[in-house]
Amino acid sequence: MNEISRRDALGLFFGAGAALAISACSSTAPTGEPARSTTTMGPAAELDDATRDLTLKLWAEPTTAEITPGVTTDVYSFGAEVVDGDPASVVPSGSYLGPTLHVRTGQRVRITFENRLPDESIVHWHGLVVPQDQDGQPSDAVGPGATYDYDFVIDNPPGTYWYHPHPHGRTGEQVYRGLAGLLIIHGDEPQLPSGDNDLALVLQDRTLGSDGQLRYLNTMHDQMAGFVGATLVTNGVTNLTVDVRREPYRIRLLNGANSRTQYLTWSDGQALTAIATDGTLLPESVDVDGLVLTPAQRTDLWIDFSTFEPGQQIDLLSSDTFIESGAMMGSGMGSGMGSTLDLIPSVAATFVVTDSESRPGSLPESLGTAPTFGVADAVNPSASKEVTLSTRRATHWINNSQWEGRAANDVETVKANTVELWEFVNQSPMAHPMHLHGRPFLVTSRSWDDDSAAGSWAAIESGIIDSGLRDTVLVWPGQRVQIAVSFGDHLGYFLYHCHILEHEDSGMMRNFHVT
Ligand code: C2O
Ligand code: CU
Ligand code: CU
Repeated sequence: MNEISRRDALGLFFGAGAALAISACSSTAPTGEPARSTTTMGPAAELDDATRDLTLKLWAEPTTAEITPGVTTDVYSFGAEVVDGDPASVVPSGSYLGPTLHVRTGQRVRITFENRLPDESIVHWHGLVVPQDQDGQPSDAVGPGATYDYDFVIDNPPGTYWYHPHPHGRTGEQVYRGLAGLLIIHGDEPQLPSGDNDLALVLQDRTLGSDGQLRYLNTMHDQMAGFVGATLVTNGVTNLTVDVRREPYRIRLLNGANSRTQYLTWSDGQALTAIATDGTLLPESVDVDGLVLTPAQRTDLWIDFSTFEPGQQIDLLSSDTFIESGAMMGSGMGSGMGSTLDLIPSVAATFVVTDSESRPGSLPESLGTAPTFGVADAVNPSASKEVTLSTRRATHWINNSQWEGRAANDVETVKANTVELWEFVNQSPMAHPMHLHGRPFLVTSRSWDDDSAAGSWAAIESGIIDSGLRDTVLVWPGQRVQIAVSFGDHLGYFLYHCHILEHEDSGMMRNFHVT
């Protein structure tokens, strides 16, 4: 394999350069070595005209990929093509992951989604503020061979988002088989590493059988607790290695795993410097010794490799944070106690510093603007709406209800252009990453109703970043997490759910109704 095609095999995104290289050679590399970046990733998409509309074809289809070198695995994959607009808007991943879509704030985007799967599906733009009929909800799912037309304006600030299927009961399996991709919004941002120095890592996990095929939901426990794969898979491959220059980098992290909440560290013990959470720049950077990233959450990191010696390696390590605190009520499952949490790190990606000139850099002092709303703006400042999370009869519940299609109860009915305080109250023995569609929110307080899992929380607490806007929040067993949500002006039904996809699929999903 030549250098360029091996770089394609990485599934590393970004850049007109990468897009051209990939069209020249789209096969993956059966090298028998770790997938490796032999160069940096090519320039980030320089979109040629900020105001130019974009028209895409996007499809989901069964295909094959090499998750481990030399082994062919059946997967599902998104593909896309620019029908009209900047060709650099679609950058193939080189793996089973969907192409990275590069768009701009304010841009009008038309996408025809074609379902080439043997199963119904629909595409959701995770984190994007869009009208109900553009949101990719389960009720909009289309059958095999059918299409769904999207037409919306990018209303979010620049940042890191993603897209994935959302048919009810099938999301976990479809994402697991490979249906997920990054969506990067460009626009006015402070001076941050760009081009070659703007990387993205999609962190997932998979279990491959001895036949090289994906295994999913092997046990009752998988269904109940959420599926955790045996192997970390980053950017669609095991043992990802990335060559970097001795310069500062922005590294966009997405936890694209079905259920594994990851605790991430650098192998040399240095702090992780976070600059953005769930698509929004933090007012100022935050340093953490370890970073908690739940399924669906994104955090953009900043790291300066200029202080490293040529040839030096640094690993991004990931530990699973799964706990079951106390007995799983009535489920007949084990009764592991959540009082401690053993973090056992595995390598998610390896960075190798090349023999290049050292060019140190620094972060701008201010990054994003402070959130424009808070507790004081809420219509219910002293009486948060309670949303309980519970586990019984071997399944998970939201306010003792489950998914019932496009419907909402009184508590879930809200007024457009208001801010409300909600409190997720976790009465379940498991942690749940709760997500609201298209309504970035602020985490305004955390407290305990039952502190029996406080010991395990203490192991990861310093890695929780609550200072910026989020669209997904981790709620530990026994915890009460208050959020301030700004409901915006799109009317209709929008989903909120646990982003452990097996929980979502089994009904831990509801709507809020904006009236
Ligand atoms: Cu990633 Cu309903 O969302
Ligand atoms: Cu979403
Ligand atoms: Cu859950």
